[in-house]
Amino acid sequence: MDTQKATEFGMNRTGTKYNLDEAIKTAEGAKKLTSPPKGDGLTVFCDKRMEYIRESDAVGTVPTPTSLKGMLSSLMEKMKKGDHSFIDKLGERIAFERTGTRLYEALIAKYEGSADKANFPDLSVIKKFHHEELSHFRLCCEAMEEIGGDPTAVTPSADVAGVAAAGWVQALGDPRINFKQSLEVILQAELVDNDCWDVLIGMAEDLGLNTLVDKFEVAKIEEDIHLSTIRAWVKEMNLAPGTSIKSSEINRPSQVIN
Ligand SMILES: [Fe+2]
Ligand SMILES: [Fe+2]
Repeated sequence: MDTQKATEFGMNRTGTKYNLDEAIKTAEGAKKLTSPPKGDGLTVFCDKRMEYIRESDAVGTVPTPTSLKGMLSSLMEKMKKGDHSFIDKLGERIAFERTGTRLYEALIAKYEGSADKANFPDLSVIKKFHHEELSHFRLCCEAMEEIGGDPTAVTPSADVAGVAAAGWVQALGDPRINFKQSLEVILQAELVDNDCWDVLIGMAEDLGLNTLVDKFEVAKIEEDIHLSTIRAWVKEMNLAPGTSIKSSEINRPSQVIN
């Protein structure tokens, strides 16, 4: 099947209107053969969920730093009070940027594997974004090392981000999902990516980690460009096929992370 034809009409029978009689029979059968719990969906599921929530442990723990050498007193103070949120969120960024790198690798494969690239955006820009995601991953790993943490440890927020991103990874890895559909998935990831950088920068500012703030701000400028570019491409590919943003039209950040 030509995956670029995914929006053409075909033998899709998923809607109930395709065969209303069969849909009514299915609903009647479900009523007859199953006994749904009493109460509305919200109450029933909420009660059950509350039960599980009360019984559950938290998602992991924040690993203690391997070294306190070079750690700023503001961060040390917070950690003495049991607040490990900066290490937790930095661990999340490491996980997210690693996933972002892999998502772009999959997007590049979607691009290369597409038979008709007529309305596609500039591949060199996609490759640039891939490179920047990787450099952000490295930047976050270095930052973790600098504050005495272990960049290979999976923090609770990293774990949560990984679970939440699993759908994106699954979609990009599905060979039936075409380039445009994959780009739309990347847009979801970039929206989250962008907001999470804001949070991390705010936390670093609160702690007075000024050198890190400066480096993170550069990454954020690049992330802003990722978001605005992917957003524009998604619009163009859906609304006005035939035009696309070229690499020369994309603003470059004032600095480049090595
Ligand atoms: Fe990113
Ligand atoms: Fe990004």
